[in-house]
Amino acid sequence: MDVVESLPDAWLLIEGERIADFGPSSSLSTQEDAVDIQVIDAKGGMVMPSFCDSHTHIVWAGQRDAEFVDKINGLTYEQIAARGGGILNSSDLLHKTSEDELYRQSKVRLDEMMAKGTGAVEIKSGYGLNLDDELKMLRVIRRLREESPALIRATFLGAHAVGRGYGHEAYVDAVCKEMIPAVAERGLAEFIDVFCDEGFFTVSDTERILAAGEQVGLIPKIHANELAVSGGVQVGVRHGALSLDHLERTGDAELEALRGSDTMPTMLPGSSFFLGLPYGQARRFIEAGLPLALASDYNPGSSPSGDMRFVMALGCIQMKLSAERAFNACTLNAAYAMGVSDEVGSITRGKRANLIVTKPGFTLTLLPYLHQTPFIAHHILQGRVI
Ligand code: NIG
Ligand code: FE
Repeated sequence: MDVVESLPDAWLLIEGERIADFGPSSSLSTQEDAVDIQVIDAKGGMVMPSFCDSHTHIVWAGQRDAEFVDKINGLTYEQIAARGGGILNSSDLLHKTSEDELYRQSKVRLDEMMAKGTGAVEIKSGYGLNLDDELKMLRVIRRLREESPALIRATFLGAHAVGRGYGHEAYVDAVCKEMIPAVAERGLAEFIDVFCDEGFFTVSDTERILAAGEQVGLIPKIHANELAVSGGVQVGVRHGALSLDHLERTGDAELEALRGSDTMPTMLPGSSFFLGLPYGQARRFIEAGLPLALASDYNPGSSPSGDMRFVMALGCIQMKLSAERAFNACTLNAAYAMGVSDEVGSITRGKRANLIVTKPGFTLTLLPYLHQTPFIAHHILQGRVI
């Protein structure tokens, strides 16, 4: 995590959607038959991989600014949820919103993220909380995926909260027996997620839901240890989770469970920032020999921002990550956490050309340091300037 390789004066060739080659300027030869090459002069800017955001909830309807006011007035995230606000508030709004309108609102957020340098995004369902509305969300994600140059992966998060009108057990039953098979049959998601935390879903609910997901080939990515030491890390590792996310509250047992696993610990400092929660102990994880990804958690309740450079800055400022560690956490490790590290997340021959050309003078350290200064000169996704 400490190493980011770079070439100080270089060229890079894109062919079609992919990175074809790169090297030091001294090795650049102009091909005679290369008349139709479009040249972008980086003018002393850096060329870097686009950010990867492995944990978002960007398909939502309306806003939850009234709860923002409640938070300013002292209510906690849990108190707002207990009053029937929070995720259930978003679920009511989503229910009333047409699929086209939901797509329109979500696309604005995706476009905003791309404009801020993100090129790959994982998006979760979880504001439907009944079969029809969960499928509606997942169809919106599929449409974003088809119509956007960003690389998108979908996660079924039926177990985000107990849907209105259900008892707890009946809802877990509906997730396992009704929703998971319907999602799999339609090929609408790669991953399955559970909000395994105090006041939401228990370790035994999570076991059941992951087992049902496994039967149809859905790979786990779990919300764990945001509000309490939930046991979510251990259950996730047992089920071969690709990533375990949040992790604001973790002790030695969690580090031990993660050691030797293929699971990417993923921290979401935007939600710590917005909710005033403790930040994940990123350095402790890295010093224990674990890797780390950072993601935005872009959602209306706990992290209303999809700005990965701000996430990188929070990684440096609040979690005391070096710029190199924060950068790796926001690019290649985040790509791994959403199953796309063979496609994006680094400048590698054959990978998708998802690249940012920064404004002149930017360095790795200046990115998080000047964290509000516009830094993108060109953003290239799938080989095209967006
Ligand atoms: O990752 N923690 C659970 N889910 C989201 C918040 C969702 C919401 O409040 O709408 C999160 O923080
Ligand atoms: Fe989340």
